[in-house]
Amino acid sequence: MAAYYELKNILKTYHPRRELHVEALRGVDLKLQKGEMIAITGVSGSGKSTLLHIMGFLDQPTDGSIYFGKPIPSKMSDSKRAKLRNEKIGFVLQDFALIPYRTAYENIELPLFFSQVPRKKRRERIRSICEKLGISELIKRKVSQMSGGQKQRVAIARALINDPELILADEPTGALDRKTKQETLSLLKKIHDEGKTVVVVTHDPQVAELADRQLFIEDGVISEGAISRETSKG
Ligand SMILES: Nc1ncnc2c1ncn2[C@@H]1O[C@H](COP(=O)(O)OP(=O)(O)O)[C@@H](O)[C@H]1O
Ligand SMILES: [Mg+2]
Repeated sequence: MAAYYELKNILKTYHPRRELHVEALRGVDLKLQKGEMIAITGVSGSGKSTLLHIMGFLDQPTDGSIYFGKPIPSKMSDSKRAKLRNEKIGFVLQDFALIPYRTAYENIELPLFFSQVPRKKRRERIRSICEKLGISELIKRKVSQMSGGQKQRVAIARALINDPELILADEPTGALDRKTKQETLSLLKKIHDEGKTVVVVTHDPQVAELADRQLFIEDGVISEGAISRETSKG
């Protein structure tokens, strides 16, 4: 049976300067089943964000193939990639990637604009997701006036608003204190329990423990198993 999501021999080389090559991913193979939650752990600089961005079609691999429900052509146009992303993928990015001078409502509304959901439907869906995540009182507040934990909830609401199949989270607890970290962890767990496929990349072993399966990435090479608590400070 074909996997739900499959990466084969993914390579990613950055060329920050003409004479410099950074091999961020060096032959990554990965199979993901529908409904699974996996954690990919590795220290800072090991290639986690690069991998997640490629999985979410924010960036293209230098080489290798991707299967996501169907084979994904390597030369897919930007607009097709954006459409696929908007329909099927919810991102929870490092540092939240919210627009600070906009309200929670406006931030959560963005993906709905892109999928051309009419205004009234947008309002219903935003209200309902905010209720579900316990952030109704934040709807009109500007992101710049929120705590880290509140921002994270808004970012998660935005990731879920289009009801995507696949959630990709990059260091979702990296910027949070202990209490809000716990809340974010239970939220991710809940999202998974409700049937979403979840990929989380992190250097935090506690986040990784939530997953059905743990993978380890080191210098752009992935293997089964987890990061140890000793090497996780990164
Ligand atoms: N846009 C970029 N240009 C050049 N090098 C990059 C770029 N993004 C990441 N890298 C390099 O690729 C490697 C992997 O980075 P990254 O995927 O961000 O790792 P992680 O998320 O695990 O910290 C690092 O050596 C990093 O410096
Ligand atoms: Mg990163």
